[in-house]
Amino acid sequence: MNLFDLESPAFLIDVARLERNSRMMLERAKGLGVRLRPHVKTHKSVEIARIQLGGREGPVTVSTLAEARFFLEAGFTDITYAVPISPQKLTSVQMLAEKCASFNILLDSEDGADAVDRAARTKGFCLSVFLKVDSGYHRAGVDPSLAESITLAERLEDSKWIDFKGILTHAGQSYHAHSQDEIRDVAEVERSRMVQFGQLLRSAGILCPEISVGSTPTAVHARHLEGVTEIRPGNYIFFDKYQADIGTCSLEDCAVSVMTRVIGVYPEGKRLVVDAGALALSKDPGADHMVSETVFGLVLDHPNLRVAGLSQEHGTIIGNTEKDVAGFRVGDALRILPNHSCLAAALHPWYFLTDGEQVVDRFQPVRGWR
Ligand SMILES: Cc1ncc(COP(=O)(O)O)c(C=O)c1O
Repeated sequence: MNLFDLESPAFLIDVARLERNSRMMLERAKGLGVRLRPHVKTHKSVEIARIQLGGREGPVTVSTLAEARFFLEAGFTDITYAVPISPQKLTSVQMLAEKCASFNILLDSEDGADAVDRAARTKGFCLSVFLKVDSGYHRAGVDPSLAESITLAERLEDSKWIDFKGILTHAGQSYHAHSQDEIRDVAEVERSRMVQFGQLLRSAGILCPEISVGSTPTAVHARHLEGVTEIRPGNYIFFDKYQADIGTCSLEDCAVSVMTRVIGVYPEGKRLVVDAGALALSKDPGADHMVSETVFGLVLDHPNLRVAGLSQEHGTIIGNTEKDVAGFRVGDALRILPNHSCLAAALHPWYFLTDGEQVVDRFQPVRGWR
């Protein structure tokens, strides 16, 4: 089937680029001497995870328990659920942990530790826990410069019901960078803060076997990762306009696009309307610290067109001049590179794998939270 015979909007993945991105990160992890535990929230697809792991069911990071179940059923038994745990989820976590070779959860508070301790004791089943650390993103995690953070780690280490795996961070501040040099600097802050905190814990007598870091920009550009045991990038497998804008990758590395069709042509307003709205592209504003005008994706092969607005099922595309849109007819196809591929992918029930214009396969990802 030709991709232009698909009903729109359709989420397309260029197989050659996907495989190239996968090889790039496998080689990087090997060269940096760290385990690769890709974050599968980017695609939520077991087929893509196998490609990322060189054809096997290796270690993965998930962002929902639905992903954890889906991947476990497909044979992935080494899973980190990388969102701080809420106590109500612990019954589900225990059911998953019993079936996995390794199932790790995160916490960053005494309350979280109380809940995990209590749940594990009640079941008589030890749970594996990472202490989440804030290495500068300021979203979640303990402050590694505070004495309380060491006290919490001591408590995890001492609990009979907790297997303390180590420390984990996500340097999401890398997304605020303007250049590869800035990304490299963030990667070094992420690495050094984690390694120093790990050393502090070890000198306090706490075994800290794992030091897990990860964001796509820092994993792609870190100068070295001495002292780190694992990386958890996710977005790199697709990349997107945001990553290209901040210098993580080039536009030619981006493996995904949303195929959409023109449903209205309004030359007097220099405007086209397409059938990819916010529910096909997501409304992520992209790297708006880099640009003077916010756009909601890049119209491929049409440099004079920009995605100026989105409502639920309508996308508004503006040209520089009347001529830029006047040649279009209702039904014409366009492809849009999303600002944020993880959010856009999560909106689609199927992914269409392409080789040139040919659709060669389709993958069904998992959806929802339960
Ligand atoms: C905890 C955690 N680890 C890893 C990642 C992967 O980072 P990226 O999306 O930059 O690949 C994320 C992304 O949000 C995350 O929240």
